[in-house]
Amino acid sequence: MPISSKKKAINKATLEVVKPVKTKPYNDIDLNNWKLYENIKTGTWWEFSSREKTGGHSYDYHGNYIPQIATQLLTRYTKKNDIVLDLFFGSGTTGIEARNLERRCIGVELKQEMVNYVSSKFNSKELVVDINIIQGDSASEKTKEKIQARLDIMGESNAQFLILHPPYDDIIKFSDKKEDLSNCSSTEEFYELFKKVAKNGYDLLEQNRFAALIIGDKYANSRYISLGFECQKRMEEIGFTTKAVIVKNITGNEKAKGKTANLWRYRALSGGFNVFEHEYIMIFQKTKLKRVRKK
Ligand SMILES: C[S@@+](CC[C@H](N)C(=O)[O-])C[C@H]1O[C@@H](n2cnc3c(N)ncnc32)[C@H](O)[C@@H]1O
Repeated sequence: MPISSKKKAINKATLEVVKPVKTKPYNDIDLNNWKLYENIKTGTWWEFSSREKTGGHSYDYHGNYIPQIATQLLTRYTKKNDIVLDLFFGSGTTGIEARNLERRCIGVELKQEMVNYVSSKFNSKELVVDINIIQGDSASEKTKEKIQARLDIMGESNAQFLILHPPYDDIIKFSDKKEDLSNCSSTEEFYELFKKVAKNGYDLLEQNRFAALIIGDKYANSRYISLGFECQKRMEEIGFTTKAVIVKNITGNEKAKGKTANLWRYRALSGGFNVFEHEYIMIFQKTKLKRVRKK
């Protein structure tokens, strides 16, 4: 064997032996093989050509997020068997993806009919062991206690990841209930309720773990309302540290947009605004509060 080939073989053998799995405490990504994770997005611009419809997912609820968001977030910020807490469970996209990726999940949803419907997506063993669905108001102390009780049964004192996908104020009205964040009498009240939900999530989340907020902005009374950045501010006030603000392209992921595209373009041209093509996915971490430097 020529010397150079012999050296290569030894190097290859050495590499295979000496490289142990290297992971962070909050995911299963092997950093010693980081080049293999090509599908994991690390940029701040996310675009998906179409909505995932396999693995139990379907577009059965106006306002549900595309499953690829859950795939990205759970792979990046959870380990196998971790508990994901989703305080606006809706049609259960987070729960389905948690099951597919062998994570556990607690989902809270205000509407009883949605809780009944989503429960039918899981088998009875899954519902007893890994997927817990609670009907309740995520802003309330009572619901927080119920979640804590479920965590205890699941053998944990905290959740390991938090997902918040609230109504985007009143853009889609989900119910007539007074506790519903889509049914607030003003945007200020929406921010107040959002902050209460986020605080419950913060208290239930394990230290140093991550949270994701999925939210879009809105127009009202001929002006732009930055729901996303206002909610980010509330997250920071509670104690979360912002880690990333991702802009996600929403064109093509929604049913009706194509049909009304021309109408919106006309309205934009005549009204001086731009048509929404994005929403935000914001990433936060529950870190120890650092002393803020005085100006
Ligand atoms: C944007 S949707 C979430 C969709 C979900 N991510 C999915 O993929 O199906 C918001 C959900 O929050 C629920 N909701 C509104 N106010 C709530 C509250 N105070 N507590 C719990 N759920 C609430 C609504 O009924 C609605 O189903």
